[in-house]
Amino acid sequence: MKKDKNILCIGAGYVGGPTMAVIASKCPDYKVTVADIDEKRINAWNSDKLPIYEPGLSELVRNVRGKRLFFTTDIAKGIKDAGIIFVSVNTPTKTFGEGAGKAADLQYWEKTARAIVEHAEDNKIVIEKSTLPLRAAEAMHRILHSNTKGLDFDVISNPEFMAEGTAIDDMQNPDRVLIGGMETASGRKAVERIVEIYAHWVPRERILSTNVWSSELSKLVANAMLAQRISSINSISALCEKTDANINEVAKAVGMDSRIGPKFLKASVGFGGSCFKKDILNLVYLCEYYGLPEVAAYWEEVVKINDFQERRFVKNIVKNMFNTVAGKKIAVFGFAFKADTGDTRESPAIYVSRMLLDEKAELAICDPEALDNAKRDLADDKGKFEFVNDPYKCARNSHAVLILTEWSEFRKLDYRKIYASMEKPAFIFDGRNLLDHKELFKIGFNVFPIGSTKFTHLK
Ligand SMILES: NC(=O)c1ccc[n+]([C@@H]2O[C@H](COP(=O)([O-])OP(=O)(O)OC[C@H]3O[C@@H](n4cnc5c(N)ncnc54)[C@H](O)[C@@H]3O)[C@@H](O)[C@H]2O)c1
Repeated sequence: MKKDKNILCIGAGYVGGPTMAVIASKCPDYKVTVADIDEKRINAWNSDKLPIYEPGLSELVRNVRGKRLFFTTDIAKGIKDAGIIFVSVNTPTKTFGEGAGKAADLQYWEKTARAIVEHAEDNKIVIEKSTLPLRAAEAMHRILHSNTKGLDFDVISNPEFMAEGTAIDDMQNPDRVLIGGMETASGRKAVERIVEIYAHWVPRERILSTNVWSSELSKLVANAMLAQRISSINSISALCEKTDANINEVAKAVGMDSRIGPKFLKASVGFGGSCFKKDILNLVYLCEYYGLPEVAAYWEEVVKINDFQERRFVKNIVKNMFNTVAGKKIAVFGFAFKADTGDTRESPAIYVSRMLLDEKAELAICDPEALDNAKRDLADDKGKFEFVNDPYKCARNSHAVLILTEWSEFRKLDYRKIYASMEKPAFIFDGRNLLDHKELFKIGFNVFPIGSTKFTHLK
């Protein structure tokens, strides 16, 4: 197979695995290899139990794996063989040095650039799939061209816009695919080669080519704007709870304005996920770096409102459970940051659980897909907590149930049975406004939704 039909993706995570599975399934004329330094993860990609849960993913992988989709730890060979290299390694928030707490930690990304320089034997197109700070492509370009072999590389930005939980559908039917390239003859040619890949299944009018800096910035701005909508509606949910306005009614009325639209206006305990917070903080850092403190402060507030919403949720629990949860069993329904994923990175459940453990509550945690990650997240935490597969067992003898992930399974549970097994008075704090609150109240629960009047039997 010619090298220009040979794709390598470095980084077999939530982005690299699913995107490459979709490319392999849609492009029979390409061979796709996904490489990672994490041997356990690669073994899982080659097994029946994939390392991540995503609806539709395992069927897709099963159909193409071993035929035109391959998973390996042999990064050097992957680099040598491929003409097109996607880089989708993690770019977390820096925890040390200059920019700690805001800037992106680019160490993994830089290591892949250096590995490409070391192992490449011919010219290649290198694509930033990871979310990166503005002008990262320039740094990538410099590192790649530091090679002494006379090789030439084109650097392309092709950020991923999929959402976990709907990744496969998002990738198969994207609103748009963004491809940013350098404004040179070779840059334009490289963009065209990446367009060719996506054009196998994405209508041409949805494939947007821009300059590389617009592409990098658009990804950060898209995430910042999405998170801003959540923080906006969550800030109003706090006001609703004080005034007997109902956030669901407000969100519906506001979202029916076609200039605003209905999506991302659902009030909740807060947003999570590996991207929103980190990408906004990255944008904040960039604004500060470029001497725009007002712009930085504007976007930072989106993150602060999210922290406020999580804290507010816990304060509400403690206050309404007679100002103490010490020694009380509390059942946590859902640990993933959203439904249909096992991913718990930056999940509000982590912060809510920690605050409740500080209050000496005893937690029982259940989640259909996220318990392994939850165990890792709380591995260093002190206090009493257990992980339970069965929600009925989880709720038994508890004083309160918290809904922290909007899994549809939780909607279908028999809440009469759950109520009967709990300590009284029994509380439900619905951090996702998932359940039928009037029905729960009728059963006997004291119900605390987000952004609307509580239903309580307590005088
Ligand atoms: N998760 C999402 O929903 C999402 C959506 C859009 C964009 N992104 C962006 O995509 C990037 C990847 O995110 P993710 O969620 O897939 O991360 P992830 O942590 O799930 O996966 C990253 C993978 O890269 C591997 N890796 C790190 N250094 C490596 C190296 N030097 N060589 C080979 N492999 C290496 C890690 O072992 C890991 O398996 C990030 O920049 C993220 O911001 C994520």
